[in-house]
Amino acid sequence: MDKTIKAPVSSTAFTDLVGVDHPIALAPMAGAVESDLAAAVGNAGGYPIMPFSWSSRDTIEAELTSLRSKTDAPFAVNLCLDMPQEARLELCLSHRPNAVHFFWGDAAPFVKQVHTNGALVIQTVSTAIDAKHAVDAGVDILVAQGWEAGGHVRGMVATLPLIPAVVDMAGSVPVLAAGGISDGRGLAAALCLGASGVVMGTRFLATPESAAHSEYIAQLIAAQHSDTLHETDLYNVGWSNAAHRVLRNAVANRWLAEGRPSNNTRHRSGETVAMRGSAPIKAYQSTTPHHSMTGEIEALSMWAGQSVGLVNSVERAGTIIDSIMEHARAALQMR
Ligand SMILES: Cc1cc2nc3c(=O)[nH]c(=O)nc-3n(C[C@H](O)[C@H](O)[C@H](O)COP(=O)(O)O)c2cc1C
Repeated sequence: MDKTIKAPVSSTAFTDLVGVDHPIALAPMAGAVESDLAAAVGNAGGYPIMPFSWSSRDTIEAELTSLRSKTDAPFAVNLCLDMPQEARLELCLSHRPNAVHFFWGDAAPFVKQVHTNGALVIQTVSTAIDAKHAVDAGVDILVAQGWEAGGHVRGMVATLPLIPAVVDMAGSVPVLAAGGISDGRGLAAALCLGASGVVMGTRFLATPESAAHSEYIAQLIAAQHSDTLHETDLYNVGWSNAAHRVLRNAVANRWLAEGRPSNNTRHRSGETVAMRGSAPIKAYQSTTPHHSMTGEIEALSMWAGQSVGLVNSVERAGTIIDSIMEHARAALQMR
């Protein structure tokens, strides 16, 4: 008898709904996910989500055209609702994404427009109450983001208690677990909690296909699970009142040691610390270290989740997905 358990891992309510082979989504990571990484994940049977919250019209056009030239896989686009997104949404929908994923806000006002354009609606939630609101509004897939997650983190509940609470509230709506997941054991655990898949960010930063700066990737590989900080007022230039999880670095250590001084009084406030082309990057700016940046990369906001402790090498995105599927199957077979 073939003891390989394929069906419970490979096919879930999520994979069936979006039409991919594996229940692994590439987290939308502004500044790190571009068409190369998204195509690599899509071609490996995962589900790429392209981040466009701060992108220009030209960038969205170029990135989605490029993605289409590299893969036929279904993909989603991601928009953060802490700023107006009507124009970007319209442009994204014209490229026929499989889904639109909303973050940091209420997807309800956009559900009808997205559905009318033939796409699914995905919403990130961080409590069961948010989940109920989204389901009642007609959202098709929920992403439950635990506070272990890297980047901007809306809630304060950890992934382990959050997933079952959201799953119980979601009914037949598939739930993806985000935050703290970097390997097959994490996928298996999420599935055991009732999730239909996972959204992984930090793990996919350390890939040759990612747009992250090499110095940032080196810091991720060196970091342990206990090397991240969850703060609201640290990297708040350009996007304030938004809690975030980042690698602890010299900038953070000094700011903490000085008692979290306010924006105007803190060390190097207003100074340019790096450049992206001709655009200056200021101290404490909310930005992802991109491979094209020059200057003090180590001083930038190096977003990372607690799962960074499981990121120990640079691997191709397809290799990561194959390995996660193999190890998740093995973990579930032991049940
Ligand atoms: C570098 C980075 C950038 C991110 N940018 C976005 C974004 O633009 N939109 C979004 O919805 N989430 C963003 N996130 C959060 C991810 O979608 C996801 O919730 C998180 O990466 C999951 O936790 P993990 O990093 O432990 O896998 C970002 C995360 C990281 C690490």
